[in-house]
Amino acid sequence: MELNIALLPGDGIGPEVVGQAVKVVDAVAEKFGHKINWTSALTGAAAIDAVGDPYPDATHEVCMAADAILFGAIGHPRYDNDPKAPVRPEQGLLKMRKKLGLFANVRPTFTFPSLIDNSPLKRERIEGTDLIILRELTGGIYFGERGRKDNGDTAFDTCTYTREEVQRLAKLGFEMAMNRRKKLCCVDKANVLESSRLWRETVQDMEKDFPEVAVSYEFVDAVAMRLVQWPSSYDVIITENLFGDILTDEASVISGSMGLMPSASIGLHTSLFEPIHGSYPQAAGKDIANPLATVLSAAMLFEDAFGLKEEAGIIRSVVNKSLAEGVVTEDLAGTNKAYKTSEVGDWLAAQIGLPETAETS
Ligand code: IPM
Ligand code: MN
Repeated sequence: MELNIALLPGDGIGPEVVGQAVKVVDAVAEKFGHKINWTSALTGAAAIDAVGDPYPDATHEVCMAADAILFGAIGHPRYDNDPKAPVRPEQGLLKMRKKLGLFANVRPTFTFPSLIDNSPLKRERIEGTDLIILRELTGGIYFGERGRKDNGDTAFDTCTYTREEVQRLAKLGFEMAMNRRKKLCCVDKANVLESSRLWRETVQDMEKDFPEVAVSYEFVDAVAMRLVQWPSSYDVIITENLFGDILTDEASVISGSMGLMPSASIGLHTSLFEPIHGSYPQAAGKDIANPLATVLSAAMLFEDAFGLKEEAGIIRSVVNKSLAEGVVTEDLAGTNKAYKTSEVGDWLAAQIGLPETAETS
């Protein structure tokens, strides 16, 4: 198969972690006889520096022409303490989501048996956790009407949703649930917000189309609590943009391995795959960042963008092997030898090249 992949390394550790995923993807392509056409493009602070725009038109064209996008991270400390900066790297992210129609952000949370004690939560609470948060990504308060009035002394941001926006996200949630444990939880604040009442009503109307899925409705404040008390009780969670932003950060702590969690953003035109961690500027250029979340995002890319499950399985199995054998970066090495980012990437690619590598997960 010929796969056209746009590569957006971005800022900070982005280029380093993406570089390792490229090695792994190339090794998989070699093994299965696929041809990968990589096209790189600028985003984030790197793009602001080069052309003054964090998501330039040229990058958008590269993304639109691609079958899938592999993304690193964006963000630079130079902007964090400057609320008046005229352009910010994060604006590139929002512009990219909107222009590419990336309406659904898929963030799985699961535990790795060998790392379970890395979690700040007790083992017995998190064992067996395997959930997906499906966050709406191009609507709600992030993109609503906003502004200032009263000479700037009053500010407002509005949360707007259409029935259609809720339906397309919920449909994906129902379909995912059908392929999993058939449980769907709609998270909202329908006791207060009108937009949440539209969410609930829309999802309720869709229940009849998916009679096998057990649907629950929970308020976001209660979910914030239950997610850390009993995460294994959830299967697929669907929610609006801002609630999803907050809950996905909370969920990322459960596994105790932020450096391992991948994500996908499903789009109208194409889909994007990225680690959930940020640009970690303190580690940039030091060859110490953990590349596994990006490598696992590449596994999602094979499976979700191209339906290539076996390829995804091999990537997951070599990642598990690297964890089991301690071929890991300093964040996971403990008192054992820490490998460099590039060494982990080389090791994974070499494992994939071994003739006996077979799908085990
Ligand atoms: C995320 C990030 C972004 C968001 C920021 C950087 C705009 O926190 O991808 O979750 O809020 O969506
Ligand atoms: Mn966030």
